[in-house]
Amino acid sequence: MSWKESAKKAAAIEATKLVKSGQVVGLGTGSTVRYAIIELGRRIREEGLDIVGIPTSYQSMMLAAEVGIPLTNLFETPSIDIAIDGADQVDFELNLIKGGGAAHAREKVVDSLAKQFVVVVDETKVVEKLGRKQPVPVEVLPFALPAVVRKLEELGGKPSLRIASKKDGPIVTDNGNFVVDVDFGVIENPAELDQRIRSIPGVVETGLFIRLADVVFVGCKTEDVKILRRRR
Ligand code: A5P
Repeated sequence: MSWKESAKKAAAIEATKLVKSGQVVGLGTGSTVRYAIIELGRRIREEGLDIVGIPTSYQSMMLAAEVGIPLTNLFETPSIDIAIDGADQVDFELNLIKGGGAAHAREKVVDSLAKQFVVVVDETKVVEKLGRKQPVPVEVLPFALPAVVRKLEELGGKPSLRIASKKDGPIVTDNGNFVVDVDFGVIENPAELDQRIRSIPGVVETGLFIRLADVVFVGCKTEDVKILRRRR
């Protein structure tokens, strides 16, 4: 296993220690939180941990079912105790860019509802300012694509429709929409940019998660896990 993979695993397993019996747990999406979902399944089987999960994607739903995490949904269980999720970039205010796996719309719903939102990353994801070498994923109604692209350019971004790798044409999200990755360069004011993008008709959600994360577990090359907490 590469140091990065070990770091992701270590951060994810450390974060699951916050999960207690009786809790409703938001299950994020991606290759880092995958380790947390597997660990929660292990604790259910071996330690009798009693939780229910709310998945943020087909990926996390299928993995949770495979490892034996009972699942629920927002109709049956509207409140969430803790959510664990990955991120593509994290700044020191704990603002995030997410959506590398195109799951950010559901993730934002689940993560924002959680009483505690815990992020798991390796140290390469932590940056001083969001946006350098990392576009902002924007989920868009397919019908509105040309209009949204024009507006994103007017905001100073360079939009690029995300193309699927094992399917011809654009990727289609779990919600039936397209994703446009928008390069804004270094983002000086992520909260303002998020508001501006979200005010474009046809935009479903952005991958900017502003002041949502409470704590970030950072897996490091040195094998330790650092903890960043949001200043309130
Ligand atoms: C899913 O759309 C994303 O928000 C992921 O949570 C994010 O891209 C982090 O994924 P990795 O843990 O695979 O890097």
